[in-house]
Amino acid sequence: MLDQKKQFKVQTRLQRPLLAGVSPSSSVSPGRQGTPFSLRPLTLDDVDDRYVGWLNDPEVAQYTSQANITHTLKSLTNFTKSQLDNPNVYFWAIVVDGVHIGNIKLFYNMAENRGDIGLIIGEKDFWGKGYGTEAVKLVTDYAFNTLKLPKVIAGSRPGNIGTQRIFEKNGYTVERYIGDAPIYSRHRVRPSNEESDQECK
Ligand SMILES: CC(C)(COP(=O)(O)OP(=O)(O)OC[C@H]1O[C@@H](n2cnc3c(N)ncnc32)[C@H](O)[C@@H]1OP(=O)(O)O)[C@@H](O)C(=O)NCCC(=O)NCCS
Repeated sequence: MLDQKKQFKVQTRLQRPLLAGVSPSSSVSPGRQGTPFSLRPLTLDDVDDRYVGWLNDPEVAQYTSQANITHTLKSLTNFTKSQLDNPNVYFWAIVVDGVHIGNIKLFYNMAENRGDIGLIIGEKDFWGKGYGTEAVKLVTDYAFNTLKLPKVIAGSRPGNIGTQRIFEKNGYTVERYIGDAPIYSRHRVRPSNEESDQECK
């Protein structure tokens, strides 16, 4: 019989595309309600000059791990492929009105049994419209309700107020700092009617 972690790994492979076609919720900012908003699995077809341009724009990349790295179509294709090949990575395109405006990723950290979220809104015209908040809400719900992860965390560079607000608005709190960088976390609350699958089996 597969142990619990292996079972999880197999299960997560199958569940990768479940968020496709999610509709907007009322937390999208006023005026934008009703705008078709969805997360769909990222594919290699999404790697184009526009996406490369996001990562090479210092204003977009300044708070990400990609700052100070010059990307090309080839390097970004290799990076994306490595993520898509990793069974513990869920990688979604954030799509508004048919436009791919950014990406959000959930990494299952098996050693710690938790999810790590990272996101980027690459299209600057779409900043400040609630889409980052909405994307984190959907992925947090997915992590807790579908994958049933006990905990999700997200790191933010110091001064990245937008990211920090996004996680605060989604019920995360600062659990610790690495240097000056806050690490946000949120724990899953198990519904009272849910059976524990950790015990007595
Ligand atoms: C940071 C980022 C994710 C924010 O996404 P967004 O969709 O613009 O954020 P939202 O519209 O959901 O805003 C969430 C909150 O942050 C605030 N906010 C967003 N950007 C902000 C900024 N640059 N400065 C201060 N506050 C900001 C909003 O006002 C809102 O707070 P409020 O509801 O209290 O008014 C997006 O700007 C981005 O991807 N930037 C570049 C890449 C990056 O830094 N990624 C994060 C690396 S982990």
